[in-house]
Amino acid sequence: MDLNDVSIRYIADLLCERTGQQLTEGRLWRIGTALSGIYRQRGITNIEQLVCLLDRPEEKTLAQEVVEALLNNETYFFRDPLYFETLADKILPDLAEKRRHKRKLTIWSAGCSTGQEVLSLSMIFAEQASRWNDWQIEILGTDISGQAIDAARSGKYSQFEIQRGLAVNRMLNFFEESEAGWLSSDRVSRLVRFSRHNLLDPPPSASPFDLVLCRNVLLYFDGSTRDRAFARLQQALAPDGWLMLGAGETVVGQTRRFHIESGLSGIYRPSGPVSVKQLRATPAGG
Ligand SMILES: C[S@@+](CC[C@H](N)C(=O)[O-])C[C@H]1O[C@@H](n2cnc3c(N)ncnc32)[C@H](O)[C@@H]1O
Repeated sequence: MDLNDVSIRYIADLLCERTGQQLTEGRLWRIGTALSGIYRQRGITNIEQLVCLLDRPEEKTLAQEVVEALLNNETYFFRDPLYFETLADKILPDLAEKRRHKRKLTIWSAGCSTGQEVLSLSMIFAEQASRWNDWQIEILGTDISGQAIDAARSGKYSQFEIQRGLAVNRMLNFFEESEAGWLSSDRVSRLVRFSRHNLLDPPPSASPFDLVLCRNVLLYFDGSTRDRAFARLQQALAPDGWLMLGAGETVVGQTRRFHIESGLSGIYRPSGPVSVKQLRATPAGG
C-alpha cells in the first residue's frame, strides 16, 4: 500500500466508525470529489495533507466535516411513488383501525436526509384529513448528518429540490414560494420534528413507533452492521407495527428480525420481541 492508499483507508475507516457506512472499493472514487470543498477551504491539494490536518488538536471539527461530506444525502419527495401509495391506501388504514381507541400514531423516519420523505408522509396525512381528524400524529425524522437535519428543520427547498417528485398541485397546496425558496406550510410542518441521531444507537424514543421508515440507508452497511441496524429498528417498533425499506432493499436473506406479511413490496413486520442478549451482541458504533 502506498501513502495515498493508506490515507484513503484512514478516511474510509473514519466514515465507517462514525456512521457504519462502508466505502467499498468501487466507491472509493467518491472521496476526492466529495472532499473537494474541504480541500479548497483548507488550502490543501491532496488526501495525505488532509489526514495530517486531522491529527491537529485545533482541527476538532474537521473529522465531522469530512464525515458529513462523504455521506450520501440523495433524496426527493415521494421517492418510489408506489411505496407511498401503499402507505396511503393500505398501511395507514390498517394503523387507523388498530389505534382507533388511542387515536395516536407515532412514526419514525430513520436516515431522513433533508426532510423530503418526512414531508411526503405529512402531506398524505393532510390529504386524508377527514380520517385523521382529532388524532395526534407525530412524525420524527432523524439523520446522522447535522447539516441534513439543519436543512430539514428549515423546511426550505430550492426550485430544483421542490420539483423533484412533487406534483404541481402538492407543491402549491403545501408550500409557499418566497425569495429564499419554497417553504413548507404549517399544514405539513406542524406534524413533523427533526433531530440528529445515529441509527446504530438506541432508538430516539422509549415508546414504540407504529411505523418506521428506513429507506436507502442500509445499502452501504456491511452484513453485521446491517444486522445491528435491524435490531435497533425491531427494538423501536410496536409488535404490530410496520417497517418500510427503500425500493432496492429487502429483509429477505438479510435478517430474521422482520418478515413479509402483507405480500406488499418494501413493507415488513417485526418477527418477535428483541432480547436483551441480542442487543448486547450489537453494541452501538462497534
Ligand atoms: C440516501 S439518503 C436516503 C434519504 C431518504 N431516506 C430517502 O430514501 O430518500 C441516506 C441518509 O442516511 C443517513 N445515514 C447514513 N448512516 C446513518 C446512520 N448510521 N444513522 C442515521 N442516518 C444515517 C445519511 O446521512 C443520509 O442522509
